[in-house]
Amino acid sequence: MAESQRTLVIFKPDAVQRGLIGPMVTRFEQKGLRFAALKLIHIDRPLAERHYQVHQGKPFYEGLLSFICSGPVVVAVLEGPDAIAATRNLMGATNPVTAEPGSIRGMYALEIGQNLVHGSDSTETADYEIPLYFDPNELLRYRRDVDRWIAE
Ligand code: RTP
Ligand code: MG
Repeated sequence: MAESQRTLVIFKPDAVQRGLIGPMVTRFEQKGLRFAALKLIHIDRPLAERHYQVHQGKPFYEGLLSFICSGPVVVAVLEGPDAIAATRNLMGATNPVTAEPGSIRGMYALEIGQNLVHGSDSTETADYEIPLYFDPNELLRYRRDVDRWIAE
């Protein structure tokens, strides 16, 4: 039985503007992952700096910050067996041009700077990122009847 994990997902401003929140939420639901939290917010510069501190100083850093602050985003916490890797695989490679066919970036995006979705890349990153966006009482603990057909 795989370890149950939580991961932070952001449906980026391009996803909101393009009306792709629904299809993307559907993909994660159909995969079997369970939403522990979900909300629409507008990320401000200080929050973006905290989120992307590992990329500070890189050539794409300023563009990345202005993009993630450019409009509303949907932030979510997904949970399930190996949720971090499952989410990253469903997202596809960072550069949408080479992202796997069938992945979200592979299907819906063309440029690395507008690649629709963020997902935590490790348990350490998830533990850092989730509290940036959610208070503990916003993370709901529940089971769906169908969960026993998805994971043992
Ligand atoms: P994310 O953090 O958004 O889930 O994406 P990721 O792990 O696949 O990629 P990461 O290396 O963490 O980079 C964060 C975001 O920065 C933009 N980026 N641009 N121009 C470039 O070379 C470049 N590299 C990264 C992408 O939008 C990427 O999602
Ligand atoms: Mg990343």
